[in-house]
Parts: sequence; structure tokens; C-alpha cells
Amino acid sequence: MFVEKLARLFNVFKKDQKPAYITVPISHVNSAAQVQALPPMRMPRHVAIIMDGNGRWARRKELPRSAGHAAGVEALRDIIRASDDWGIEYLTIYAFSTENWARSHEEVEALMALLLKYFASEIDELDEKNVRITIIGNIGDLPEAQREAVRNAMARTKENTGLKLNIALSYGGRAELVRAAKALAQKAADGTLAPEDIDAQALEAELYTAGQPDVDLLIRTSGEMRLSNFLPWQTVYAELVFDRTLWPDFDRAAYMRALREYANRDRRYGRRDGETGEANA
Ligand code: IPE
Ligand code: IPE
Ligand code: MG
Repeated sequence: MFVEKLARLFNVFKKDQKPAYITVPISHVNSAAQVQALPPMRMPRHVAIIMDGNGRWARRKELPRSAGHAAGVEALRDIIRASDDWGIEYLTIYAFSTENWARSHEEVEALMALLLKYFASEIDELDEKNVRITIIGNIGDLPEAQREAVRNAMARTKENTGLKLNIALSYGGRAELVRAAKALAQKAADGTLAPEDIDAQALEAELYTAGQPDVDLLIRTSGEMRLSNFLPWQTVYAELVFDRTLWPDFDRAAYMRALREYANRDRRYGRRDGETGEANA
């Protein structure tokens, strides 16, 4: 097995010296029809994306970082449309982390301005497409106007039944877990929840993503191979795909590659190769 895997890896690098894709070879696909041809059971229900590389994209073009972020919004627009076209049920995007507040005042301001612009220009189309927007993260950290915009977007789309779009803003995975622990502790202190009844389900119910399925496929662009405090609870069994493309260049073809990669993975959840589930005795 190990030898086979090595041989496979070796072939990838022999064929393609600089693969855009880091793990295994997958043929280039770029039409919706091809994704629709995948067996439905192989499609992820929940895709999460760490949209990374805007700064490097801008630097390569000798543009200010803010231009990279603006280009990133363009890429996002098409990825949301593609998710909708391809029937993805849940899409969670990492837009701004709790750690990103530590960037320069100038960059944070540019990102906040872009956020306002984004909601103003996109909300009609998203609502029209029946997309339900949920903000995950601490909305209270945002400046007043942005807070208002995201609250309006959530309120306006809350009855929508199409793509569930989670936008992570001032999101940190540890902060999310701390918040959940506090909520459980409060219930225990109030006497509405016995400590011995605290289980994974009870904790999950206190997360921003309560009631949503776990992440099936997590994509990170720009070649970085870390999670940067994104969805620690929800990604424990996610398939990870790292793509070298810088986020502003991430397009449908790159997205399709990640979906094909996902379709070829064997999700074992700790079971033996080839076992399907229940009868594990
Ligand atoms: C991702 O791009 C966008 C945010 C974190 C808001 P970066 O700004 O992190 O781009 P790089 O990593 O510096 O290239
Ligand atoms: C993660 O990217 C956060 C977002 C994409 C919003 P970063 O660029 O902030 O992550 P690190 O600092 O490289 O880990
Ligand atoms: Mg980055």
C-alpha cells in the first residue's frame, strides 16, 4: 500500500514538475456537466474555504494589498455562484479572523470598507438566488455600519431555502469553543442542564454552525497548509485540499479540481479499508 502510494506520488511529480494541486493527480475538469456526472453521494454537502493569498497576489502585480482583497471579492462571487449551480448545500468562507484585527489599521479599514461594499452590491442577487446568509464570528467586534449591514443581510435571507452561506467574520475557532463552553456552564449554573448531560451534541448546539452538517471538504488556497483557527470542531473529519492558487485566481476550474479530488478520497472515519459502517463487530 505504502509503496503503491509512493509510486503514485512519484508519478505526479514526474509528470508535472509544478503541480497546482498538492496531493494526488486529477484530470482537469471545467464544466458543470462533469460535476453533475459525479455520483451524488460523492459530492460534499458542506464545503469550507480559507480564501488566502490576496496580499501575495497584489504584491506580484505591484498593487496595494487592498487591490488584492478587491480582486478576492470577484473570485468569491463566482465561487458562490458555482456552489449554487452545483448544488452544494453549505458553503462556509473565511473572510476575516479574530487574528486579522492585528493587521495594520489601513488594511483593516480597507477590508471593512470592502465588506460594506460587498453586502450593498451582492445582497439582491444572493437573496434572489434564495441563498441564506449566516454570519459566524463575533459580530459585536465589527464597526456599527458593518454590523448593521450583516444583520440586515441575515434578517433578509433567513427564510431562504437555497445555498446556506456562512461568512466567517471576526471568527476564531477557539473563541467559538470558549463561547460554547460558557453557554453550557451558564445552563448548568441555571440548573437547566446537568453536567453529566453535556455531550458532543450539547456542545455542537452552542456553536455558530448549530444544526449544520460537519464540513466535508475544506479548501485552502495559496499553498499554506494550516487551518489558522478555522472551524476546529466542524472539520475533525473533513477532507483537506490545499491548492497553490492565490485566492483572486481561484476559479471554477480550480474549484472543480478540489471537488474531483474529494470524490476520489476514501473517507474511513476510523474504520478499516472497504468497510461501510454499522456492522463492525
Ligand atoms: C486572505 O489574504 C484575506 C484575509 C486574510 C482577509 P491575505 O491578506 O492573508 O493574503 P496573503 O496571505 O498575505 O497573501
Ligand atoms: C486566514 O488567513 C484567515 C482568512 C483567510 C480570513 P491568514 O492569512 O490570516 O492566516 P495565517 O496568518 O497565514 O495563518
Ligand atoms: Mg494570508
